[in-house]
Amino acid sequence: MSQETCHRRWNFSIRAGCLGAGGMMTTDKAPVELLVCIKCKRGEEVTEDGERPGTRLFESLRAEGMPEGVRLTPVDCLQNCDHGCSVAFRGGDARWTYVYGNLHEGSHLDLLTEGAALYREANDGIIPWRQRPDHFKRNCIARIPPVAPAAPKLGE
Ligand code: FES
Repeated sequence: MSQETCHRRWNFSIRAGCLGAGGMMTTDKAPVELLVCIKCKRGEEVTEDGERPGTRLFESLRAEGMPEGVRLTPVDCLQNCDHGCSVAFRGGDARWTYVYGNLHEGSHLDLLTEGAALYREANDGIIPWRQRPDHFKRNCIARIPPVAPAAPKLGE
């Protein structure tokens, strides 16, 4: 995907609120990484040399292209094998990391690319509930605190 096509495609994120003061696109966000487990079989029979669904998901996302500031990275097993395909979002010291499952290369490419843009817009990694895609609401496997979280107060 060309840079121009990519920018046109991600115009939706302007509606999602990524314009900074004066209507300029914000560029001060920490970069984000979308990690894709390329080992996932998603319960399918895969021959020794056959392509795994996780690899297909990664390759499809690579062909689709990522929003600005998002890097796509293939990884080994995320230990969510019974609910694959699986991905994780992370980025910067201040964001929560999220792991999502039950993903399919045939139906979730837009979800993941749009979700990546929304995640990048959130400085703490928490996509506001109303903007959060339904699949993310129902298929969040885990979330992991940022490197320097605000410590929760005991008793609250
Ligand atoms: S093989 Fe993908 S999560 Fe385990």
